[in-house]
Amino acid sequence: MDTLNNRSSVSEFILLGLSSSREIQILFFAIFFLVYVAIVVGNLLIVISVIFDNHLHSSMYFLLANLSFFDLCLSSVATPKVIADFLRKRKTISMRGCMTQMFFMHFFGGGEMSLLIAMAIDRYVAICKPLHYQTIMNHRVLIVLLLVSWTTGLIHTTSQMVFTIGLPFCGPNVVDSIFCDLPLVIKLACTETYILELLVIADSGLLSLVCFILLLTSYIIMLVTIWQHSSSASSKAVSTLSAHITVVTLFFGPAIFIYAFPFNSYSVDKFLSIFYSVITPLLNPIIYTLRNQEMKAAIKRLSSQHILSWFLKFCL
Ligand SMILES: *[C@@H]1O[C@H](CO)[C@@H](O)[C@H](O)[C@H]1NC(C)=O
Repeated sequence: MDTLNNRSSVSEFILLGLSSSREIQILFFAIFFLVYVAIVVGNLLIVISVIFDNHLHSSMYFLLANLSFFDLCLSSVATPKVIADFLRKRKTISMRGCMTQMFFMHFFGGGEMSLLIAMAIDRYVAICKPLHYQTIMNHRVLIVLLLVSWTTGLIHTTSQMVFTIGLPFCGPNVVDSIFCDLPLVIKLACTETYILELLVIADSGLLSLVCFILLLTSYIIMLVTIWQHSSSASSKAVSTLSAHITVVTLFFGPAIFIYAFPFNSYSVDKFLSIFYSVITPLLNPIIYTLRNQEMKAAIKRLSSQHILSWFLKFCL
């Protein structure tokens, strides 16, 4: 890092935030603070329910708990600083802080992307190969899928950050967003970044687009399979699948917008980046718990076991 700072005259970035009006910023502070508390409570509730409740010891719920864990991590990378920044006049972030934010955003983001694929595989086996579900999706396979998710996140973020960390920054240092986002920061480098921009488009944008199309296609195949063999369990399966499709769309939609067509409309990016930091991590627990009877029942059981009251006391 020190050799890097010799070449760069910029040692920190200035974040513009969402608004310059003091009143609006206080309003954003309150909203983001409440939403972040809801994210932490909601996702921890899912993780705790799945770990403590024997009824939820199936691969679908283990994957769901891991998704909640990813959501917790993803929203904690930038959101606490974003919230504190709403109360600051001058929102600065050090070069190292900025690089760290981008590294972990893409680490957990890439991991979550692969986890959504793992969840689709799990549902695919459950619906299209129901007789072999227990043998195919055993605990070992589950662990492998999780390891693959973490590894994918690591490879994904490293492949971009390795080239970003060495960029020289000597000149405007204003990032028009609430946290450091890869396309915005690359744009500020005082060197030719064409190749790196292409790499980000391929690595983040194209990859999200391809995954999204594959996921949607597989969910459509599953829905068609269910409709062909309509049985008593089908309405529950359709509701699970529609929850998955909603989450997948909310996660990949903004990613595709930001990364597959970057470097043109930055003002939209700023609002899309809110999706990452707060909206998707908040919606996942809502979508999964409100639509899922078993999850709701598990949370009720939890509260009767006093774990919930202990947990709420601990959190609030
Ligand atoms: C993730 O899934 C594994 C695999 O079965 C499970 O043992 C673990 O408890 C889950 N992690 C979380 C945070 O829920």
